[in-house]
Amino acid sequence: MDIIDCDFLIIGSGIAGLSAALELAPHGRVIVATKRSLELSNTAWAQGGVSCVVDPADSIEAHVADTLDAGAGLCNAQVVETIAREGQREIAALEAQGVPFEHLPGGEYHLGTEGGHTHRRVLHAGDITGAEITRALLMRVQEQPGILVKENCCAIDLVTTGWMRLAGPTRCVGAYFLDGESGAVIAIRAPFTMLATGGAGKVYLYTTNPDVATGDGVAMAWRAGLPIANMEFVQFHPTCLYHPEARSFLISEAVRGEGAELVNEAGDAFMQRHDPRGALAPRDIVARAIDYEIKKRGDTCAYLDITHKSEEQVRKRFPNIYATLAELGYRMERDRIPVVPAAHYFCGGVRAGIDGVTELPGLYACGEVACTGMHGANRLASNSLLEARVCAVHAARHMVSLRNRFHVEDVRIPDWERGNAMPSNEAVVVEHNWNEVRTSMWDYVGIVRTNKRLERAFRRIRNLRREIREYYREYLVSTDLLELRNLADVAELVIRCAFLRRESRGLHFTLDYRETNNADPVRDTLISDPPGGPLLL
Ligand code: SIN
Repeated sequence: MDIIDCDFLIIGSGIAGLSAALELAPHGRVIVATKRSLELSNTAWAQGGVSCVVDPADSIEAHVADTLDAGAGLCNAQVVETIAREGQREIAALEAQGVPFEHLPGGEYHLGTEGGHTHRRVLHAGDITGAEITRALLMRVQEQPGILVKENCCAIDLVTTGWMRLAGPTRCVGAYFLDGESGAVIAIRAPFTMLATGGAGKVYLYTTNPDVATGDGVAMAWRAGLPIANMEFVQFHPTCLYHPEARSFLISEAVRGEGAELVNEAGDAFMQRHDPRGALAPRDIVARAIDYEIKKRGDTCAYLDITHKSEEQVRKRFPNIYATLAELGYRMERDRIPVVPAAHYFCGGVRAGIDGVTELPGLYACGEVACTGMHGANRLASNSLLEARVCAVHAARHMVSLRNRFHVEDVRIPDWERGNAMPSNEAVVVEHNWNEVRTSMWDYVGIVRTNKRLERAFRRIRNLRREIREYYREYLVSTDLLELRNLADVAELVIRCAFLRRESRGLHFTLDYRETNNADPVRDTLISDPPGGPLLL
């Protein structure tokens, strides 16, 4: 088996991974491993922008208060405040790295707004902010000779000294990968490994996420024995385009920020009936309201209506959304846009500090894969890119501070055991199980939950996990199989966290416990299993 050595291993190529790589490059050999192409990530699909206090009429206190309010009592206030305070510095650094945030003719930033914000504070690059951030950071990464990029390199599992039964405290020393170029399993060995693998929207049938969002980092960390927190808090974005040819296309919340209303089939604007903030209430409230209205009326979707704006206005502010909708036959200044909620963001993940530090020495987690306490029970819109950037920079500095203390080049990583595994002749099993995981999660662990639905989902997912484990032993690994295994593991984590939270709070709403329990609140729901996960009897 080939083993590649580096000083810093980064798994994932969104804003967290690329930012950390750039920060680390002057200090050692960096490898960025990503399972498909570098530009494919949740970051690259982000439309809205990056929230940051830049307007003198706004304040850090207001940004913190809005974040805590959306987070429904579960944010870590200190983490929120640090991230909000460091926003301006990171925005300046991103601009220096080439991100073209939009400015007004007078030089001030053009600021958008989204649900839950009491001030305009969303910096953006048109409506393709994430794509612009990705483009700019990738250009910088490609200029750095110290960064080796490995595309089509799909992480399988973390390698830890405990797993190899080596003496001393357990430490992460890298990971096994399926190398798309050679088709072989390789190991990348490093004293410092960062999970920057993003989210897991693909656990659900309908999602705004790209296909790569299969929860790989959370699943690998869990299998390595790390505690996973708050996975019940899955954010459903209220306005995913409802169209058979564009299933995951997001209509940014910034469209509501510019005055779009949510209406039902009859043209009735219903949000005021659910919250005085109307269409700009926090996302959990808006998504539940749409779900309620659709089910009550028997409609197939709700509609976004921004027809009070002129063609010039919408085209200028939302060029990408406008063009995509126009291709499908919708004109924003003339037509109502059909929308439904879809899985968008995981507030839970690998428990980590603001510096990405996890409970496994040598392993860091930054961005959507991590649960730092920034988002609590519901993430405030446009806070995720900010969190990912600030935490990645902290994590890189933390690694550099320990750089000379750990060397792992002598650690003998065992060869990948393929046993009697054969090439698969039953790819249909992977396809079928992939669909079953996603359908079960959508039907039983969606926006509105009950104990019975969770139990039903749990039984199905457990069976699927057993089947997948057998398949995994019998056949050679493929990227599809690895993703399916991770999806099923994440599905189980979501259900188990949902069982642990016997109240409705933020994004977790259950008909069995409709109230928020403030008298005896559960802070984080934690799943902590031995390495390898619980026995599947
Ligand atoms: C959006 O543009 O609506 C998404 C922004 C976010 O999820 O933070």
